[in-house]
Amino acid sequence: MSDSIHDIAIESLMKEERIFDPPEEFRKRANINSPDIYKKAEENFEAFWDELAKSELHWFEPYQKVLDWNPPYARWFDGGKINVSYNCLDRHVLSGGGDKIAYYWEGEPGDTREVTYADLLRDVKKCANALKQLGVQKGDRVAIYMPMVPELPVAMLACARIGAPHTVVFGGFSADALAGRINDSQAKVLITADGGYRKGNIVPLKKNADEALKNTSSVEKVIVLKRTGHDVDMTPGRDIWWHDIVPNQSEDCPAEPLDSEHMLYLLYTSGTTAKPKGIVHTSAGYLLGVSLTHKWIFDIKPEDVYWCAADIGWVTGHSYIVYGPLANHTTSVIYEGAPDYPGPDRWWSIIEKYKVTILYTAPTAIRAHMKWGPQHAQAHDLSSLRLLGSVGEPINPEAWLWYYKYIGGERCPVVDTWWQTETGMIMISPLPGITRLKPGSATFPFPGVQADVVDEQGNSVPPGVGGYLVLKRPWPAMLRGIYGDPDRYVQTYWSRFPDVYFSGDGAKRDEEGYFWLLGRVDDVMNVSGHRISTIEVESALVDDPRVAEAAVIGQHDEVTGEAIFAFVILKSDVEPTPELGEELRQHVARKIGPIARPKRIMFTPDLPKTRSGKIMRRLLRDIANDRQLGDTTTLADASVVELIQSATKANV
Ligand code: WT7
Repeated sequence: MSDSIHDIAIESLMKEERIFDPPEEFRKRANINSPDIYKKAEENFEAFWDELAKSELHWFEPYQKVLDWNPPYARWFDGGKINVSYNCLDRHVLSGGGDKIAYYWEGEPGDTREVTYADLLRDVKKCANALKQLGVQKGDRVAIYMPMVPELPVAMLACARIGAPHTVVFGGFSADALAGRINDSQAKVLITADGGYRKGNIVPLKKNADEALKNTSSVEKVIVLKRTGHDVDMTPGRDIWWHDIVPNQSEDCPAEPLDSEHMLYLLYTSGTTAKPKGIVHTSAGYLLGVSLTHKWIFDIKPEDVYWCAADIGWVTGHSYIVYGPLANHTTSVIYEGAPDYPGPDRWWSIIEKYKVTILYTAPTAIRAHMKWGPQHAQAHDLSSLRLLGSVGEPINPEAWLWYYKYIGGERCPVVDTWWQTETGMIMISPLPGITRLKPGSATFPFPGVQADVVDEQGNSVPPGVGGYLVLKRPWPAMLRGIYGDPDRYVQTYWSRFPDVYFSGDGAKRDEEGYFWLLGRVDDVMNVSGHRISTIEVESALVDDPRVAEAAVIGQHDEVTGEAIFAFVILKSDVEPTPELGEELRQHVARKIGPIARPKRIMFTPDLPKTRSGKIMRRLLRDIANDRQLGDTTTLADASVVELIQSATKANV
């Protein structure tokens, strides 16, 4: 599929005309309440980051240079010595903040723990000493494959403390995926658990790990946390229980002063080829980027109870459950399990129980809640909430408004935050005390960030015209490379336009300069020479109150090149009929224009999704175009594909 973007204006795609001003009370108290901050950052962006690096972070030794930009390689705060775990823990405890709760933790079965900053520091030191005892040294990679329990951030911070880069593998990934990441990173130690809980079942992490380790050779030792307590195999000489090696360690473990550019972690993400890319993040710039964006975008105050409902196995969890919030001495909630276990109100009961003030989640989750209905939220007191966040995909205005109304009680700003594993930190987002919100728009680049929308030649496109979203200036939390593959780093991100970062996303700006994300450029359809983003058609479909979720792909068409094929999940009380299909086609034509009218609508009870909740349009394209299915290993539930496949065949 071609991924060029034709310069056509697609009008009124995200039709929601209302603008939401920051509530006056919110603005008055906001951490950032003057737009001067943008001007200041633009006047001298290096000076901007320099000042913040000094005020926000603790340094063992000062840096000599703010930025060394040798495209496409950036070095930030060179010459400085820093430790990320010291910044997240020691400095708060040393200044009397040890008793503050770092994490309210809630397990899926209902068990709970409160972990203070002092607790966390103590456990991190012990875990770091355990790693040292197992021979882990500065620079050695440590793989982590754990459920959402407090020991997961403990393990990450222990690695950071001794300068051993971690690579966290999401607990929903398979043994194969884990093996691939271990092999690529050549991890020396694996930290895992017997299992974790998900929807009332046990995820057999240790069993998967054992299988993965059959196909790897770098791992010498495995630390196993007891979480579920079910029987697991322990390989003598290789496997050690966490409770046998961590608790008895000394509490003395000074944080290692590390170079600003010391590798903090590797995180694997899928690209356009089958092999995941190991995205490299380093220490000082990353920590500055995530802590500052966290503080300003989520307007973090000492009394907040903040909940990012992502999994720590994704970059969202790394940056906005672990590093950003801890650097800011924030109290967070961590929840282990599924949002609808034991019932669809689990999230809302957690918000009520801990008096959560800030919630950060993904549009796909919001749409799931929409499908289950607002009555579950309405049964709980959500009045503690004051700010809502969204991340992961463009948020369709209907979901934005539902979130705003039913969860935020029409009083909480919604910050739609655009970023990527590669950017490390949020790049485009409102600042809730100053930005006028338009539902569906991620609004403006963060201060100091220079984003643009360009055409094939790299020229900025005028308002209303779709193009490629690029970043024209380095930023402190940017990726430093793809582990072990410098060519792919250059090729993927820096070769399309010289010295400009290519995000892989399409976007457009409106007359007021607001950014509207249009989805990945490889998910853009070309119908009769017109570019239409799958997300735009989906947004129009879910705008119909009977539709719960939709996925749109381009199907090969003799006449138009591609024709729009929409897979639609209806709300539970709605009957799928041919009439309804026709109405929805017309509805899309009305919302976007006749060009966007789906040629075909198929009602389906489910959609193929990755374990992180992203719809795999690629597979839908394969099904619709009757091609052999590509890689299905990241699917959360493989049976969904067969279901859709047989239904498609039945009525082709
Ligand atoms: C891709 C990055 C960043 C954390 C989660 C995903 C899409 C992300 C938004 C948003 C529109 C978004 C982009 C991006 N994306 N946030 N607010 N609006 N699109 O991280 O797995 O690296 O995915 O997610 O397409 O390129 P990731």
